Amino acid sequence: MSSEFKLAPSILSADFANLQSALSQCEEGGAHWIHVDVMDNQFVPNLTIGPPVVKSLRPKTNKFIDVHMMVIEPEKLVEPFARAGADLITFHIEATDNPQSVIDLIKSTGTKVGISIKPSTPMSDIEPFYDQVDLILVMSVEPGFGGQGYIPESTKRIRVIKQKLNEQCLQDRVMIEVDGGIKLFNAKEVIDAGADVLVAGSAIFGTDDPVQTINEFYQLTE
Ligand code: DX5
Ligand code: ZN
Repeated sequence: MSSEFKLAPSILSADFANLQSALSQCEEGGAHWIHVDVMDNQFVPNLTIGPPVVKSLRPKTNKFIDVHMMVIEPEKLVEPFARAGADLITFHIEATDNPQSVIDLIKSTGTKVGISIKPSTPMSDIEPFYDQVDLILVMSVEPGFGGQGYIPESTKRIRVIKQKLNEQCLQDRVMIEVDGGIKLFNAKEVIDAGADVLVAGSAIFGTDDPVQTINEFYQLTE
């Protein structure tokens, strides 16, 4: 990918009673994507957003809707999220015994496909799928909650994945997204390691001026 990174504000940290305002802030700040954290209270100990919310967001924005499914049995939710208007659907390698079938299912809906990995899962588990996906989502916190601290070892994992993509000439085809604990002070380190897309929840919606914060993220690489 080019050195231009994309910012994907996570609406998990926005006011759920006023998601329109969060979308407007993303528009005004010029964020590229909208990151939607789907949690089922089984794969992770939290319960959040389902397809009806994505369906409601879809007509309100032209932004790329990036659905991060932290759910068991991901195959059951692929079609509902695709129909609701997701542009990309990411599932967790730890959530299925048959990643290839989930990848094929997501592709069959016409949406882009992402594969995600938790901080303690060996990277060798996702390596066989690098040439099958559009995006690799590297979790830099334990999935489940916003507002946690970035796990420092994540930077090395991003570098290793980037190197493998380079070796396989996939660097222009497969994006690396990093999710968890991304703040203004560590974003540059994550970009330099090879991230193409940065998710940020509390760093954006936890501030008094999310639009200004989005601008500050983009100024990091100017
Ligand atoms: C955590 C979610 C993240 C979360 C990030 O499981 O996948 O997307 O919203 O929040 P921050 O940026 O606050 O760590
Ligand atoms: Zn996420």
